[in-house]
Amino acid sequence: MSPPACARAARPSASLPSLLLPLLLLAPALRGLQETAYSDLNPEFREAHFAQLLDHFNFERFGNRTFSQRFLVSDKFWSPGEGPVFFYTGNEGDVWVFANNSGFILELAAQEEALVVFAEHRYYGKSLPFGENSTQRGYTELLTVEQALADFAVLIQALRVDLGCPDLPVIAFGGSYGGMLSAYMRIKYPNLVAGALAASAPVLSVAGLGDSLQFFHDVSADFEAQCAECAQGVREAFMQISDLFQDGAFDRLSHALGTCQLLSSTDHLTQLFGFARNAFTLLAMMDYPYSTDFMGHLPANPVKVACERLLSTQDRLEGLNLLLGLVYNASGREPCYDIYEQYQACADPTGCGTGSDAQAWDYQACTEINLVFSSNNESDFFPALLFTEPLRRHYCEHKWGVRPRPDWLRTNFWGADLKAASNIIFSNGDLDPWARGGVLRNLSLSLVAINIQGGAHHLDLRGTHSQDPASVREARKMEATLIHQWVQEAQKIRKRS
Ligand SMILES: *[C@@H]1O[C@H](CO)[C@@H](O)[C@H](O)[C@H]1NC(C)=O
Ligand SMILES: *[C@@H]1O[C@H](CO)[C@@H](O)[C@H](O)[C@H]1NC(C)=O
Ligand SMILES: *[C@@H]1O[C@H](CO)[C@@H](O)[C@H](O)[C@H]1NC(C)=O
Ligand SMILES: *[C@@H]1O[C@H](CO)[C@@H](O)[C@H](O)[C@H]1NC(C)=O
Ligand SMILES: *[C@@H]1O[C@H](CO)[C@@H](O)[C@H](O)[C@H]1NC(C)=O
Ligand SMILES: *[C@@H]1O[C@H](CO)[C@@H](O)[C@H](O)[C@H]1NC(C)=O
Repeated sequence: MSPPACARAARPSASLPSLLLPLLLLAPALRGLQETAYSDLNPEFREAHFAQLLDHFNFERFGNRTFSQRFLVSDKFWSPGEGPVFFYTGNEGDVWVFANNSGFILELAAQEEALVVFAEHRYYGKSLPFGENSTQRGYTELLTVEQALADFAVLIQALRVDLGCPDLPVIAFGGSYGGMLSAYMRIKYPNLVAGALAASAPVLSVAGLGDSLQFFHDVSADFEAQCAECAQGVREAFMQISDLFQDGAFDRLSHALGTCQLLSSTDHLTQLFGFARNAFTLLAMMDYPYSTDFMGHLPANPVKVACERLLSTQDRLEGLNLLLGLVYNASGREPCYDIYEQYQACADPTGCGTGSDAQAWDYQACTEINLVFSSNNESDFFPALLFTEPLRRHYCEHKWGVRPRPDWLRTNFWGADLKAASNIIFSNGDLDPWARGGVLRNLSLSLVAINIQGGAHHLDLRGTHSQDPASVREARKMEATLIHQWVQEAQKIRKRS
């Protein structure tokens, strides 16, 4: 097989930012890595920055002004000029977090001799269009899904030109919101992206298609499945909180739960319920079979551990305090729970996190991304906490001065009517409360749903682990096969032209 023309001309052109110059000079790509399992690959990512256009969709207001978009790149596995590009479409956070928790992409890169890129999403991590002001009201207008996708598209173009390989096949990868973005990249830019792995991507629920009670029902179901006593214990704990509050036993209640605030108003009580519900949500999403440091530090099988903690004492409030500590007191150094600091209510009832990234996500949940989920103490075990479209609108107008557009994602990214798309894998794990907001059925020969029994939130993106269930091993195998096919097809077309 003769190398494609671009390998001979693999030199950055003078007119473009030399993104990869250091790479090309340093890099003897590693060969012969196929057919080996890599559980602990060190990709030696390098941080790079790209002068990205501020506004892709307006020629006047910001003109050609740019901001510095961060991305990580590893050529450790790459066969220069030949291997594909594996491009992670970064989501709502520091891009290193995703790079550090997506070992499967590296394992696959070693097999396919791929260049690996993790691109940071604008307004998150260090990719801030207006510096520290970025996530303040008045500076958020350039934070949209469309702008983020255009950033990725422009970066892909620039990277390929820079590598001297304008037709190098690119596969998009992502988990959760990043998984939505990888699917959207294939939908919007099939000229650039040969296929996408959209892991745990709730493309339907975020488009407003689905049941607003599904999410917290499924969180509860994970605990119910662990053991009926556990779910019953949770119900009793919440009931006792309500009862003590009704009785005006504010001191006893606050002391038993370990809150910093005296729980003496209904606002406090609502905040406490949100704070507590959020811990269950995280435990369900992160219910991996081994300990992780992804969204906080959690032990193996955290739902099981949470239930053990809850039931370790007859006192339900003490048990709930211990359970909450898994999420909010992992350090063992929190003297009390600051329910306003450690949990910030926002336009995403599954939690926005804290800090600047949380503000950016709140804005996205106030504009394009629909997350109007409620709990009702009937189809789930949580106190009734409603979040409806009118409540969302009210919150968003007040907080950001914007009005959500609930139908826009469905129009812009096709909602459930995806049959005109191709080459997308939608993978989901049945432990993941996001799963039923995603695509769980095959839609065509190349729109493939992979359902992972015993899998939590995008477990398949994580590196191979000895505690992995057989289902996720199978899922990764199928993903590898499909991605290999897409790369081969793209290479064939490339060599013909
Ligand atoms: C940006 O636009 C200005 C004129 O508005 C021009 O002088 C400058 O060269 C442009 N910069 C780039 C990088 O295109
Ligand atoms: C990611 O991993 C690198 C290398 O192990 C480490 O230095 C860094 O702190 C990690 N970053 C995050 C955000 O997890
Ligand atoms: C941030 O806001 C301050 C105060 O409004 C302003 O002086 C500064 O120029 C802004 N910085 C950026 C990067 O926009
Ligand atoms: C956090 O853990 C430490 C150590 O177990 C404990 O002393 C402390 O009371 C816990 N904090 C809360 C709020 O429960
Ligand atoms: C949940 O509903 C039950 C009755 O179905 C009620 O007894 C209980 O107090 C409710 N729990 C909360 C926290 O509101
Ligand atoms: C989708 O099709 C593949 C075969 O192409 C099959 O292995 C997989 O189980 C199917 N997914 C579902 C959810 O039926």
